[in-house]
Amino acid sequence: MMSNYLSSLTIICLLAFSSCEAQPTHQKKDKAPVGGNCETCELMFEGIPDKIRSSDTSAGWYENTQKLIVTGRVFQSDGKTPAPNILIYYWHTDAKGLYSSKPSSHSKAAQHGYLRGWVKSDSNGNYMIHTLRPAPYPKEDIPAHIHLLIKEPTIANPYYVDDLVFDEDPLLIKHLKKYPAEERGGNGILRVLLHGKVQVAEHDIILGLNIPNHPATKDLPKESGLSIGQDNLPLSLIMLMGPIREAGLVRFVNTDVIMASYFIPVINQIGHPLSSGSGFWNKVQSSIRIH
Ligand SMILES: [Fe+2]
Repeated sequence: MMSNYLSSLTIICLLAFSSCEAQPTHQKKDKAPVGGNCETCELMFEGIPDKIRSSDTSAGWYENTQKLIVTGRVFQSDGKTPAPNILIYYWHTDAKGLYSSKPSSHSKAAQHGYLRGWVKSDSNGNYMIHTLRPAPYPKEDIPAHIHLLIKEPTIANPYYVDDLVFDEDPLLIKHLKKYPAEERGGNGILRVLLHGKVQVAEHDIILGLNIPNHPATKDLPKESGLSIGQDNLPLSLIMLMGPIREAGLVRFVNTDVIMASYFIPVINQIGHPLSSGSGFWNKVQSSIRIH
């Protein structure tokens, strides 16, 4: 009898404690910043210009090293509605892999080095960044990367999305096996293409995707299969085929890559985001001409 009483008491206590504990945890969750903790995020606002355009050029673009253009679109959480007026802050290492400073660097943001800047997506969600190709940290096995922070007008705090990394970086695969990508805002792996001597990569950002506590996605049920912005093999091949077809290498591909014979008719039918018809290369070309 006594043991029954004690058991009941224990259960009541456990229930009481768990409900007491659940309440603050729940409240805490609601107050948690969108995207969780974000180290050095506050530096985004140091030296921020009054007027921010959809295209930015870092000091690195004018240096005698590998030039890089990163361009793409920002979409709402559905992955298809363009998101205008989204502030994107970027910073990255120099061609030696260092967050180095220049006399013109903003002193309070020295931690981010001098290769930093801001763009704001235009009415169609477009943005473009001209900079130099960063190098990996010296003597470390972390792939070269570009950090991105997002500040949405309706969300109080900025949050980070996946770092941009480069698909042909020899350090990448080993690093991804150890630290799988979170795919925050979409897949951060850039497919680097050459336009003349300039490296060009396209990167779209999907607001709220894999961003903890984001108002647009926090109540959505977990779904199985690929999410918007996630990569898959057939699409990777399709992405590759566009530039290959443009470069007139289709015959080479047909001989050497058996799967291409299946994909090329598909590509010809649906077109490719980087193909000449899409206007992508025209946009890049005119941007390089301006600079
Ligand atoms: Fe870094």
